[in-house]
Amino acid sequence: MELIKVRDYNEMSQKAAEILIGKVKGSEKINFGLATGGTPKGLYEKMIEDHQKNGISYKNVTTFNLDEYAGLSEEDPNSYHYYMNESLFKHIDILKSNTHLPKGISEHLEKECSEYDKMIAENGGIDLQVLGIGQNGHIGFNEPGTSFKSNTHVVKLAESTREANARYFDTIDDVPTHAITMGIASIMKSKEILLLVSGEAKQEAMGKLMHGEVTEEFPASILQKHPRVTIIADQKALSRVLITP
Ligand code: F6R
Repeated sequence: MELIKVRDYNEMSQKAAEILIGKVKGSEKINFGLATGGTPKGLYEKMIEDHQKNGISYKNVTTFNLDEYAGLSEEDPNSYHYYMNESLFKHIDILKSNTHLPKGISEHLEKECSEYDKMIAENGGIDLQVLGIGQNGHIGFNEPGTSFKSNTHVVKLAESTREANARYFDTIDDVPTHAITMGIASIMKSKEILLLVSGEAKQEAMGKLMHGEVTEEFPASILQKHPRVTIIADQKALSRVLITP
């Protein structure tokens, strides 16, 4: 895993944006795996700024998001569909038909899951997957205990994850109990992974990620086994991590 140390959230977002924009410019066609949450917001803002200033086109870009809450419609302001439209898609010239997220409402959620993996494979797989990390080591919504062999699946959210995400909802009771997430195996199939980590709340997770054992009890630890992972982490996230040169 390559570690890029940056000062703060802004610098993390800037570096990440440079990497993604570089790939958009340098490829005839590229598939990004994208995340939601607080961490990639700055990255998306920088991509929008760049698009408005330099006119880089996203017509050659296809996206697959990691996850979606079960039971929320695409129009629900707390859905990840809504988040992605508001935070990125509607501000750039990406084709709506090239943007994909798991469907949160379906009579056949399990079928949606297997079709999502199939669709990614049929599109040639994910070239670069952007990830954030939960305080308990989750990636996507793969909570501790998730099998490393998991494909896209329906999950019951950990209470700690619902509490962490309650800030976006009126009350914690409104936070869905289940979600659909790309599995660990789906994420590990990405050709390249870019993990963004910022803030004190992520210090412990950062330490375990860099120096902990590879265990399903800390899902992000599997990234130690991926051949091409870049981590961009800021000073606050790194302050308790022993960095060996
Ligand atoms: C979101 C996702 C989650 C978040 C994680 C960190 O699509 O997959 O794994 O990356 O919960 O969330 P933030 O960035 O809000 O700290």
